[in-house]
Amino acid sequence: MDVKKVTVKDLTSMKKQGKRIVCLTAYDFPTASLLDESGVDFILVGDTLGMVVLGYDSTLPVTVEDIIHHTKAVMRGAKRSLVVADMPFMSYQVSPEQGLETAGRLMKETGCGAVKLEGGFREIETVERIVSAGIPVIGHVGLTPQSINAFGGYKVQGKASEDARRIRREAKALENAGASAVVLECVPSQLAELISADLTVPTIGIGAGVGCDGQILVFHDIFGLYGGFSPRFVRRYADLGSSIKDAVERYADDVRDGSFPSARESFSIPEAALKGLTEDDGGF
Ligand code: KIV
Repeated sequence: MDVKKVTVKDLTSMKKQGKRIVCLTAYDFPTASLLDESGVDFILVGDTLGMVVLGYDSTLPVTVEDIIHHTKAVMRGAKRSLVVADMPFMSYQVSPEQGLETAGRLMKETGCGAVKLEGGFREIETVERIVSAGIPVIGHVGLTPQSINAFGGYKVQGKASEDARRIRREAKALENAGASAVVLECVPSQLAELISADLTVPTIGIGAGVGCDGQILVFHDIFGLYGGFSPRFVRRYADLGSSIKDAVERYADDVRDGSFPSARESFSIPEAALKGLTEDDGGF
């Protein structure tokens, strides 16, 4: 039976019905299948890919090709979840035309349900262009990691009232430009609550408190699979990193002491055929 895919419209209906939206990142087929089967509403193929999967120390080196490659894999695993492809650094900042071209490639080549880009006022025209081509866009304000060098580090944004006011206005401007949802990253929970009340489309929080319409976290952070920096807003639901290390150590011990593979984990040749191998000619 065909499963009905979650769309950006469903996210807004969920907000109206007071149902919180569950989002996680994924970058490959098996993870996407697990998240989809667990009822995750929206899977983001985030440019965090660069850090948690590709081993860079920021998201900046990620390319459009990287996102396309991984989004295709995620699409094969996600039967129901909405899949959103992240627009990497410098794939839309040059001009609205460049943004439209990138968004078009992401949607055409992967079949994703929406794209996401970072930025407020600066990206309004780009969002309008992409939306007018029929491509749903998710905005992202607050801490926007592609601008990490300008921010001077991963810091909470919107603590001063001038900044908070700007972020609030940027979120509304994104909605007015046609964004289907807005990610709020690392902003005070009171500000996120105000923005969530301002908008008809949902807010998706990460380090933005419980007042958002949905929550997103990076898969590798919540399962202890990323050894780098772990922000305070992450809740670790399992320590798969330790479980994997423990399992690999047991496998290594078994290989080294000859207890793997056992007879049950090996194949054998019938006696008569084996005899043919050990006859005078040596079986050659
Ligand atoms: O790239 C990403 O994973 C993100 C989330 C952290 C929202 O943008």
